[in-house]
Amino acid sequence: MVAANWKMNGLRRGGRDLARALAGLKRAADAPACDIVICPPATLLFELRDALQSAGIALGGQDCHSEGMGAHTGDISADMLADCGCSHVILGHSERRMDHGETSKMVCGKVAAALRAGLCAILCVGESEDDREAGTALEVVGEQLRNSLPEAGGSADIVIAYEPVWAIGTGRTPNAGEIGEMHQHIRNLFDALKTGGKSGLRVLYGGSVNAENAGDILSIAGVDGALVGGASLSAEKFWNICAHYGR
Ligand code: PGA
Repeated sequence: MVAANWKMNGLRRGGRDLARALAGLKRAADAPACDIVICPPATLLFELRDALQSAGIALGGQDCHSEGMGAHTGDISADMLADCGCSHVILGHSERRMDHGETSKMVCGKVAAALRAGLCAILCVGESEDDREAGTALEVVGEQLRNSLPEAGGSADIVIAYEPVWAIGTGRTPNAGEIGEMHQHIRNLFDALKTGGKSGLRVLYGGSVNAENAGDILSIAGVDGALVGGASLSAEKFWNICAHYGR
């Protein structure tokens, strides 16, 4: 899976142009063999739905509330996302954890709400630079995962995105050994928490993935795709990342 996180970028016109360009690339006979999910700002979801879905590209939100409806000014429910055509939603992104004080417990409620609405949750976890330097990255991410995963759900409707906070938008990435180790750790923990043996969980890497480093990162054992921010705002760059998955 290669998922695009447009974050708070895109007005209607530019969003439409980008979605059309992506749809055109996807329709080409040599479309890559991976699931592609585009997560634009909420204001563009409905606008881009038809262009993306008609080309077999999935639509995702960037957040949802843990409640189904009610007095929560400014929030969006998982049902509203589904109603707009979303099949996926990014949850627990570090920018939401930082900007909006989201705790893992709150994220857990959001993941549960997403699953109730029939959405696939792309749950983000990742350590800070201090955690990495202190040698506690595995522990911190393990704790986030334990506290963010609801009882419901499994590898069919939950995808984990490992996104080291210090690698997001910085051009820096962990080395292959560090990424591989963390992905294995996440998979082991998920399998232990979700009984039933090997789960087939998909673990994406996110944080400064671009067309140049995608080949190396996506080749690491245990990396099942990418969550892409900055490079997803260019159809060409994003497509070059997806193209890693062959034709
Ligand atoms: P980036 O963002 O690719 O710009 O580093 C990734 C993300 O935050 O999901």
